[in-house]
Amino acid sequence: MPLARHLNTDFLVRTSQDHKHIHSSTGHLATHAYGARYGTEPVPKYRIPSKGVDAQATYQLLHDELTLDGTPALNLASFVHTWMPKEADQLMMENISKNLIDQDEYPMTQVLHTRCVSILAELWHAHSSQEAIGTATTGSSEAIQLGGLAMKRIWQERRKAAGKSIHEPGPNIVMGANAQVALEKFARYFDVECRLVPISKESHYCLDPQRAMQYVDENTIGVYVILGSTYTGHYEPVKEMAALLDEYEERTGNNVPIHVDGASGGFIAPFATPKLEWDFRIPRVVSINTSGHKFGLSYVGVGWVVWRSKKYLPKDLIFELHYLGSVEYSFSLNFSRPAHPIIAQYFNFIHLGFEGYRNVALQDLKNARLLSRALEKSGYFDVLSDIHRPVETSTVVPGGKQVIEFDEENVENYVPGLPVVSFRFSDKYRAKYPEVQQKWVQTLLRAKGWIVPNYELAPDLQSVDILRVVVRENTSAVMIDRLVGDIVEVAEGLGDSDNPTSALSKLESRKTEEGRRGKLPDGSGSKSNGTYAKQC
Ligand SMILES: Cc1ncc(COP(=O)(O)O)c(C=O)c1O
Repeated sequence: MPLARHLNTDFLVRTSQDHKHIHSSTGHLATHAYGARYGTEPVPKYRIPSKGVDAQATYQLLHDELTLDGTPALNLASFVHTWMPKEADQLMMENISKNLIDQDEYPMTQVLHTRCVSILAELWHAHSSQEAIGTATTGSSEAIQLGGLAMKRIWQERRKAAGKSIHEPGPNIVMGANAQVALEKFARYFDVECRLVPISKESHYCLDPQRAMQYVDENTIGVYVILGSTYTGHYEPVKEMAALLDEYEERTGNNVPIHVDGASGGFIAPFATPKLEWDFRIPRVVSINTSGHKFGLSYVGVGWVVWRSKKYLPKDLIFELHYLGSVEYSFSLNFSRPAHPIIAQYFNFIHLGFEGYRNVALQDLKNARLLSRALEKSGYFDVLSDIHRPVETSTVVPGGKQVIEFDEENVENYVPGLPVVSFRFSDKYRAKYPEVQQKWVQTLLRAKGWIVPNYELAPDLQSVDILRVVVRENTSAVMIDRLVGDIVEVAEGLGDSDNPTSALSKLESRKTEEGRRGKLPDGSGSKSNGTYAKQC
């Protein structure tokens, strides 16, 4: 039979079954491993089975299918936290069925919610945490929509009060071209013109405040400033942007507020670099969002938005609900919301305290520096993120001599940013191996279990592709040790042009100390005489 170029594997599997004449109307039946054991029938994949399957068998069936997912702990592509202490798991399970919206029925859950908002307002230096107002959201995406909506409403009210049109030419919002999709979504979903400020190497691949000012006018509802950039972890300069907008207001009378997207940085900066001013200490910052499920160290499902005062959340966006006998207030995009992620967030605040969060943030940054330096030292990679680069501090000692001080352990001595390492093949590597494509590193690392994405930078720099590792709490120094070994071996394997399959063969080898230790050298055993099976 000639080899076909494209096989229909659905058809192939269906026609290879014992009873190929028995199949569902959609032709998609899953015969599962435990069918014989539990006496269950094959389950249709794309329509509801007419008869249900026993819970134990269902669990095993889904459990096995889900093992095909990547391992969350090795998913270095994601900012999302993947581990909590078992006591937190227990607490979440105990409260899994509570709906946050049922404020009257679950008043204590509401109290914990309010405490979380207050804690964040304090951390972010709201003038008074009593005056600040905020809510839990489903991650930063919803929080960003709410922050944007509040700025839009305030702009509309101001325009109407001045007797000006809110439709011609309509509102716009300014952000760096590196903005995460949630920010652009706000503009598209809520009819606001999205003005993307081009990024460059000089602007550290994120918002350039000077350039941003060219996009600001009387119809700008606000500027989204990102702490820090999803691509490279750089913090955008909130203070510099605010100073330029202050100057602009003085000149024109136009007030343009800032919403800080602190999806990740909102939980890193206050703990790692508390002296850095990016939050409500800057009067122009009216609202801030963060993801509790990123460096807030909770499982996926929780975000936050906080306004510096009620003044910046127009009443029009707050719904008064007369529901099940009580009056409740709601300012979120959806109605029902699980309460357990909020409980998990509060668990972290109590369990870790300021010091605990700081220790985790410092350790993440330390591990990110380790990875950055190792990659740079390999010579195969350039690192685009800057958190491992020192900011020089010098003191003048008696006699007028300047001494450069550098304490490698002190986070204050480095460029502030997220524990993110963005890197790409060095020019030397590219020149030596021009045929090697960087995206193959992603594929080969995946075969070793690591999930490290390779993607293009934002518009204007889309010809630059980067590999990115988010260093989270579970990305320990031991794991980084192994990761560096694997990345270097993959890069070397790809460069071996004499042997195009060498990168694949490198998947099995391990040149590191860990790979060698406890192993006998090649040739240590007697030759197989073919009488025993090699595979087991
Ligand atoms: C800067 C930034 N903003 C917003 C988001 C969206 O956050 P979430 O996934 O919590 O909705 C992300 C996610 O990575 C991000 O990095």
